[in-house]
Amino acid sequence: MRSANADIFNHDTEAADYDRDVLNESDPVRAGYREILGWVIQQAQITPTLRVLELGSGTGNLSALIVSCRELVSVDVSGKMEAVAKFKLRHLAHRRFIKADILEVFRQGLGQFDAVISTYAVHHLTDHEKHQLFELVFACLSPGGRAVFGDLMVLNGSEKEEKIQQYLAKGDQATAQAISEEFFWLLDTAIGDLERLGFQVSTARFSELSYGLVAQKLNLRGNAGPHCDRRHRFLSSSIARYQVWRRRSARLLLDLAGRIRSLCTRSQALETLNRFGNP
Ligand SMILES: C[S@@+](CC[C@H](N)C(=O)[O-])C[C@H]1O[C@@H](n2cnc3c(N)ncnc32)[C@H](O)[C@@H]1O
Repeated sequence: MRSANADIFNHDTEAADYDRDVLNESDPVRAGYREILGWVIQQAQITPTLRVLELGSGTGNLSALIVSCRELVSVDVSGKMEAVAKFKLRHLAHRRFIKADILEVFRQGLGQFDAVISTYAVHHLTDHEKHQLFELVFACLSPGGRAVFGDLMVLNGSEKEEKIQQYLAKGDQATAQAISEEFFWLLDTAIGDLERLGFQVSTARFSELSYGLVAQKLNLRGNAGPHCDRRHRFLSSSIARYQVWRRRSARLLLDLAGRIRSLCTRSQALETLNRFGNP
């Protein structure tokens, strides 16, 4: 399940100029860049004992702000962005880079993480792919762990249309085009998806087009954080895996019912689905 546009948004051709481009915060797409990176690291509460996953690590500007962690796994499709990153991240002794798509990489059995961080990468996934990513992130996070994102976001579909018109009216064709073509997060949809999975969500706004979002995975005792006992971790991660399996099975069932109408009507399938839990 590689994301549909991974090759289009691979930043190999932008790598040489990327760090200079992000300094231009007068560009509405870059506004708040430095501040958002600092906020993501602060909210992720990374300590020397935590295992961290970064999605869409680019030229390493986000991870460069981590003082120390037990292990950092960085994922990006662009080998050229990574070539810039590795010089900035020499202080992180236990760092591993995986050149892969941020959906597909979860097939590699990465294990559990205490924190997942990502800036300006998830908006390259379609809305459906974002939903898939949230499920994968939920399943790989330890109980009490946090996923912290900083990215290009709008509140909902109607705000997206308004913003496109506003930038067109200002003569800023490039920003209007970015909003319409690059799958900026729709915050209300994303928050709903994350909360249904069992995350507690909070957000902060950084510019006209950028927000930060913290998704904290609750555990059975509430928010004990990443240092709860092992039995507890095991129980919560089993429940999380079961929930993902249950949602997938329910969707499969609904799909099957649509295909084999003579054997099982949609309403029968929905009834069964309700017994299994709603996807
Ligand atoms: C706008 S840059 C952000 C880089 C860095 N996180 C930052 O904040 O400066 C987006 C990065 O995501 C990577 N990327 C885009 N789509 C991807 C995908 N589907 N899987 C993995 N990496 C992806 C690009 O190669 C690029 O390095």
